[in-house]
Amino acid sequence: MPVNTLHGRDVLTLADLTPDEVRLVLDRAVAHKRMWRQAAGGRPSHGGKYAAIIMLKPSLRTRVSFEVACRNLGIEPVILGPGDAFSRSETVHDTVKVLDRFVDLIVLRTFEQSHVEQVAEHAEAPVINALTDDHHPCQGLADLLTIEEHLERLAGVRFVYVGDGNNMANTYLLAGALTGMHVTVASPLGYQPDPGVVAQAISLTERHGTGAQIAVVADPRDAACGADVIATDTWASMGQEAEHAARVAAFAGFTVDDEMMALAAPDALFMHCLPAHRGEEVTDSVIDSAESVVFDEAENRLWAQQALISLLMER
Ligand code: CP
Ligand code: NVA
Repeated sequence: MPVNTLHGRDVLTLADLTPDEVRLVLDRAVAHKRMWRQAAGGRPSHGGKYAAIIMLKPSLRTRVSFEVACRNLGIEPVILGPGDAFSRSETVHDTVKVLDRFVDLIVLRTFEQSHVEQVAEHAEAPVINALTDDHHPCQGLADLLTIEEHLERLAGVRFVYVGDGNNMANTYLLAGALTGMHVTVASPLGYQPDPGVVAQAISLTERHGTGAQIAVVADPRDAACGADVIATDTWASMGQEAEHAARVAAFAGFTVDDEMMALAAPDALFMHCLPAHRGEEVTDSVIDSAESVVFDEAENRLWAQQALISLLMER
């Protein structure tokens, strides 16, 4: 049994994990998925614990999957919205000191990455990033689980993300660095991922010797050639709604359609973290195709997060 190095830790980006820890989470996620589907014994329980799940942005998948994951593990989830926490001018320090008196885990969806960092700095409870403007590590773990389920490997998979250089692009760059998956991000100039995250992905690849090839390009069709996976995401993330029209214009030619999928390897997977904007970043025919695994990704949020929570909570 590998040593659990994750007890009590914070997960604010995938770079908080080592390749071995990613493997630990994915293996446990597979085990939990099997255990809960087969109603088998041996299910871990963290009864008597509480988790604050704080959503300062809208959510369907993240909220439901965290709540179900907590209940599966015997942890009582306490769901908080924008009016409940970090409101009424209360400081991050004071808010977190209060939460620490009640709960054993803090899950936070917010805007700035610095917000989850400040919460983690003050909190005794482990903190999980449930999406910020810059990172979405839980979606990254669920997507790695999904790719491995379908392609039976991660190292050497040619993963191409077409679209905005946003929190998902950053997350996939780090996911590649930790697993040896080759990640190419194709985004229009002006919408490419943060160069700091690209540099971090390259440096993590070197540090861990995973052999990932990391690239950022501007031509989605060149990038799509021979891909094993093509992924995309919304062109206007939460908080960018006012930029929607300008972004639709800037992303012309970046829709993942049948022609783009035809450039990829035969049977290449299509991935999207959802919610999708059909007719913008992806066509109906692609998202509804046999190669689309978007609902597997959604389900795997539960198993990846449940695995992560159980590793963070167990001694
Ligand atoms: N993919 C994802 O995080 O979905 P929600 O925004 O609905 O939680
Ligand atoms: N990039 C999207 C992801 C939603 C799950 C957003 O931040 O809105």
